Amino acid sequence: MSSVETLKREAGIAACRFVRDGMKLGLGTGSTVRYTILEIGRMMAEDGLDIIGVPTSESTRELAESLNIPLMKISEVDSLDLTIDGADEFDREFSLIKGGGGALTREKIVAKLSKSMIVVADESKKVEVLGEFKLPIEVNPMHSDRVIQEISDFCPGQVSVRASNGNDDDNFEPYMTDNDGYIIDCKFGPSIRNPLELEKIISEIKGVVEVGLFVGICDAVIMASSSGTEIMVNPEGRLS
Ligand code: 5RP
Repeated sequence: MSSVETLKREAGIAACRFVRDGMKLGLGTGSTVRYTILEIGRMMAEDGLDIIGVPTSESTRELAESLNIPLMKISEVDSLDLTIDGADEFDREFSLIKGGGGALTREKIVAKLSKSMIVVADESKKVEVLGEFKLPIEVNPMHSDRVIQEISDFCPGQVSVRASNGNDDDNFEPYMTDNDGYIIDCKFGPSIRNPLELEKIISEIKGVVEVGLFVGICDAVIMASSSGTEIMVNPEGRLS
């Protein structure tokens, strides 16, 4: 296992200490939270843990089902106890960029329905200013050209529809989300100093389904680094 993979595993498993019997738990998407879900499956099978999961993507649903974790759909729940998810970047205000895996819309719905949200990450995700990672935005395919045009007016870098088949420009196939949307990736560079304002501006563009900026949602980050695993609690959050 590579050193980054080891860190993802450590962070993912460390989050399970916040999981309690009887919880309705939002299950995030990605390679870090995958370790959380695997550990929850193990705890259910071996330690008698009893939870219900609400998956944020079809891939997470399949993983959870393979581990016999009982599931409910987002539409079946009014409120969840906790969501555990990954992130592409987080800053010192606990604002996040998410959507590298294309699941940002369901991830935001589930996180907002939850009483608290914990992010699991390796140290590479911690940034001073958000934006080095291209900001993912889910859009209605019918409006994608116009949304790209409008965002290009104020985004300094490339704004493009995510491909499902890498960089093969001659045979471009758009990546489709679980909601049949496109993802537009926007290269702002490390310049997103007011993520709430940017989220608002982009959300108001017709055709935008969801923006991969999560502001005021994350209550703690469990970050694994070469010097150990750290639990950073948001002083403004619901776990402090
Ligand atoms: C998926 C996400 C993921 O949580 C994010 O991309 C981090 O993934 P990973 O843990 O694989 O780096 O937002 O939409």
